[in-house]
Amino acid sequence: MEVSMKGRSLVSIADFTTEEIWQVWTLAAELKRKQKMGEPHRILEGKQLAMIFQKPSLRTQVSLETGMSQLGGHALYLGPDHIVLGERESVPDVARVLGRMVDGITARVFAHKDVEELAEHAGVPVINSLSDEEHPCQSLGDLFTIYEKCGRVEGINLTYIGDGNNVAVALLLNAAKVGMNITIINPQGHEVKPKYVQKAREDAARTGTKLSFSNDPADVKGSDVIYTDTWASMGQEAEAAHRARTFAPFQVNRELLQRAGENALVMHCLPAHRGQEITYDVMDGPNSIVFDEAENRLHVQKALMALLI
Ligand code: CP
Ligand code: NVA
Repeated sequence: MEVSMKGRSLVSIADFTTEEIWQVWTLAAELKRKQKMGEPHRILEGKQLAMIFQKPSLRTQVSLETGMSQLGGHALYLGPDHIVLGERESVPDVARVLGRMVDGITARVFAHKDVEELAEHAGVPVINSLSDEEHPCQSLGDLFTIYEKCGRVEGINLTYIGDGNNVAVALLLNAAKVGMNITIINPQGHEVKPKYVQKAREDAARTGTKLSFSNDPADVKGSDVIYTDTWASMGQEAEAAHRARTFAPFQVNRELLQRAGENALVMHCLPAHRGQEITYDVMDGPNSIVFDEAENRLHVQKALMALLI
């Protein structure tokens, strides 16, 4: 049965139930089909979305803006120099003002608490479009992509290798909600924070999901999907050279892919740093589904906005 998600925010993927996640994916599949067939789907006619960006973006901004216009609404880009979030005026005041003028807000921020505060004070739905801690829109698009490719999510073995960052956290929390087994492999000192592991364990106990954590790249063995992301996220540029040395054994290359299994699919949220976390040949090879994954950001983003706003 459909549950109304109108007016809800998405700050963390942990905010959604398993059923709500499936509702997003069901609508995403329908909207994808409609868009491919040229069938109009102007569900958000006349609605306004404010998009706060403290960091750069390609996929997220374009999927939100294009998505909003395909849904019949309008999106307004508010870049780092526009509202100077938290400096020119407080985050709650920005939320209160935007909430009086627009129907939904998306926020790409540094501090996760900024997106929490926006959601608390806006009075309209707020969608986390990446914080230092989580990237829930990404994980929704990614697991939807795996569902499309594999025909199921339950029992699939997803391995994330690299930094225990915002993308890793969202994948872990999302996988635990829907029964996708996940192994997270990080260099020592770069693991996912224990509070997220704990949260995922609670859902995994309910859904029967296997969660594994390792510091050994050899543990990619038996994966259906290998996933990686940048070694230095936005805001960590000063650490990039040091991280490149630490993370080198965790590169997704031909050897690692062979160890994982010949048919393992390869994913990356992008932007990729070819020659660092992933090699050119693997990124462009037959196992790579990174551009299908990128496209699905659009369809899933649209479903999410159509359900929440
Ligand atoms: N994957 C992703 O969020 O890409 P952008 O940073 O380009 O939006
Ligand atoms: N972990 C990366 C994801 C980019 C989409 C970052 O935060 O920069």
